[in-house]
Amino acid sequence: MDPMPLLARFGLDDEDLAAWRASGLSDAVIEDWLTDRVARRPAGTRARRVYGADDVHDFARRAILDWLALGPEDALLEVGCGGGLLLRDALALGARVTGIDHSQEMAELARERAPGAEVLVAAAEELPFADQAFTAVAMSIVFFFFARPLVVLGETRRVLRPGGRLAIYTTAPELRGTPAAPEPLASRGHFYSDGELAELGRAAGFDDLTVENRRGGQLMTGRVPFP
Ligand SMILES: C[S@@+](CC[C@H](N)C(=O)[O-])C[C@H]1O[C@@H](n2cnc3c(N)ncnc32)[C@H](O)[C@@H]1O
Repeated sequence: MDPMPLLARFGLDDEDLAAWRASGLSDAVIEDWLTDRVARRPAGTRARRVYGADDVHDFARRAILDWLALGPEDALLEVGCGGGLLLRDALALGARVTGIDHSQEMAELARERAPGAEVLVAAAEELPFADQAFTAVAMSIVFFFFARPLVVLGETRRVLRPGGRLAIYTTAPELRGTPAAPEPLASRGHFYSDGELAELGRAAGFDDLTVENRRGGQLMTGRVPFP
């Protein structure tokens, strides 16, 4: 099988082809490998260019930051921080800023793009932070990839203080198969209706849940209740 036509559809080049060959994986899992390489655990020169670009997911970043309205009194955690653009913009608002990503390359890029932020290589399902360490949590175009969303939301709630804010921007089912969520990535992700998304937030113990659907881009917000 010639993998290049599939890789080229996502702008991947010879470097990525060499990485695929070096992986030693069988052709049967090339779509899983591609999903990781492009978005689920990005790696390579192309990924650093895409996720380090000023305009990457700027619509999601703006929606999240507008709602969170961060200030110097805030401690923000971004889960799945990618190239660190949201971290950079949050620092400019005076907040204390932390990011985690399970891609080593993305964590390194985020440290470059957001000097002053603390960035750790870690998994969303097991956050390496004390209870109530943050006042706000952001997730931009990453919720889609979580196989265990309630585990991630539970961890998020644990590390937020009472009154802490959660803002998640994700992709709605109506965008499945469009350039916002193309195959084969779409069938490896998780889409939720607005109602399902709010129900997940409630089940994890958040209050004041809202889901605003902007032509298939969903902004879910919530707060940790006071005891
Ligand atoms: C599509 S990128 C989005 C990056 C950035 N948030 C943005 O909006 O540009 C998804 C990011 O989430 C990270 N990610 C996916 N699943 C993760 C998990 N379970 N734990 C930590 N990071 C994860 C990926 O490595 C990748 O950097």
